[in-house]
Amino acid sequence: MLQTTPFLLVLFLALGAHGLSVKKCSLTGRWVNDLGSNMTITTVNANGAFSGTYHTAVTATSNEIKLSPLQGSLQKSPNQKGQPTFGFTVNWSFSDSVTVFTGQCFVDDNGKEVVKTMWLLRSHMDDIKNDWKATRVGTNVFTRLQSQE
Ligand code: BTN
Repeated sequence: MLQTTPFLLVLFLALGAHGLSVKKCSLTGRWVNDLGSNMTITTVNANGAFSGTYHTAVTATSNEIKLSPLQGSLQKSPNQKGQPTFGFTVNWSFSDSVTVFTGQCFVDDNGKEVVKTMWLLRSHMDDIKNDWKATRVGTNVFTRLQSQE
């Protein structure tokens, strides 16, 4: 018993230190994706509800691109282990479309935060006959924009 106590103490400290050093992925902040679009997530509340803004680099329309609001929900279960899943909707302010994104905020092997997403872009159709061509699908990868301080 006397010999096992120091062993257990070392094991406990090692596991504790590991737990403290595990880097988590936080959605809050400024992000850029592989298309050059910028996203800012300003607030994530205790229930995981979040909001922010999205500036897309591209559009399926001929409209002038404008900053658009986004609203989302982050999974808060303990199983997320600091790399949470989430979904958000961008309600485009310059078109009749809506995009829904779903994804996960990862920490890669270099300790860098990477947000992997998949999206559906629903465009407005004037005629039900055109519904078949209303939805585009794709993926985007976001990395954190470093602040220039
Ligand atoms: C529209 O064209 O009606 C609105 C802009 C859509 C931009 C899309 S959303 C998915 C993809 N990822 C981006 O960052 N921009 C495009």
